[in-house]
Amino acid sequence: MSNAANVVYLNGQYLPVEEATVSVMDRGFLFGDGVYEVVPVFGNKLLRLEEHLTRLQNSLNRISLPNPYSHDEWLGIFSNLLEKNTGEDRAIYLQISRGVYAKRDLSIKAGYPPTVFAMVLQVEPPDLEVVSAGISVITVDDFRWGACDIKSTSLVANVMLRQQATEANVDDAILVKNGMLSEGTASNVFLVKNNVLITPPTGHKLLPGITRDLVIEIAKNNAILVEEREIREAELFSADEIWMTSSTREIAPVISLNDEIVATGVAGEMWKRVMGLYQQYK
Ligand code: PDD
Repeated sequence: MSNAANVVYLNGQYLPVEEATVSVMDRGFLFGDGVYEVVPVFGNKLLRLEEHLTRLQNSLNRISLPNPYSHDEWLGIFSNLLEKNTGEDRAIYLQISRGVYAKRDLSIKAGYPPTVFAMVLQVEPPDLEVVSAGISVITVDDFRWGACDIKSTSLVANVMLRQQATEANVDDAILVKNGMLSEGTASNVFLVKNNVLITPPTGHKLLPGITRDLVIEIAKNNAILVEEREIREAELFSADEIWMTSSTREIAPVISLNDEIVATGVAGEMWKRVMGLYQQYK
């Protein structure tokens, strides 16, 4: 158990990952019937913990699954896991599925305990030089469902969309629904145009990213104009900068879009500024 990130939490127990097992009748396994969260941890500080727990509650409410733990019980699990798994830059992954029923049946029934799982992920600390080299992306058709604001473990659509990017030999995909930008396969998207930061509004088409919120807050606190509005796909191609944000990726500048160089092909001035402010905030 000396190995970092090897002790996980499962239904009240702390176990080496190899010993943590779940029934094949678990609804998370059969249906992807569950929700999850990823909370970044720097040193021992859980970044934006309250916001993550609030989003978890929203996801649970949307799928009619009661929260198995109080705020303090969650905190206790996280701090135990962080104590048992050493490391600097980490993240807590947690997921709650609707548990194990005797029969494979879509209907929800009361009285079954959920399956609660949590583990520590090791995150590569961002090397600013490497991150500023940027990522390449393609645009793909966002064929997902109308409940993308739920952080659901049903991620096969995201897997398929990411695979389109992999097959095109790029890092990720920007998803476009009916000509309008939604998000990345596991991140939110920002454009910079004429020194204004622009991102699609929250709603059912995208996950309300905690990093997205933090970037908006940091920008506003530093007198950078922010617009939350629908973005046409065409606007991507005339953007000064494009970023993708998430808890594990932080703020990644996009330097290539559909095989075309974005603006000057290097991470932009606004990215440098906001990324610097983000690192200070952490
Ligand atoms: N994903 N949109 C989607 C579809 C995501 O999966 C994520 C994060 C985000 C960004 O959210 P946040 O800033 O709160 O991390 C947006 C996590 C990191 C994951 O699935 O691993």
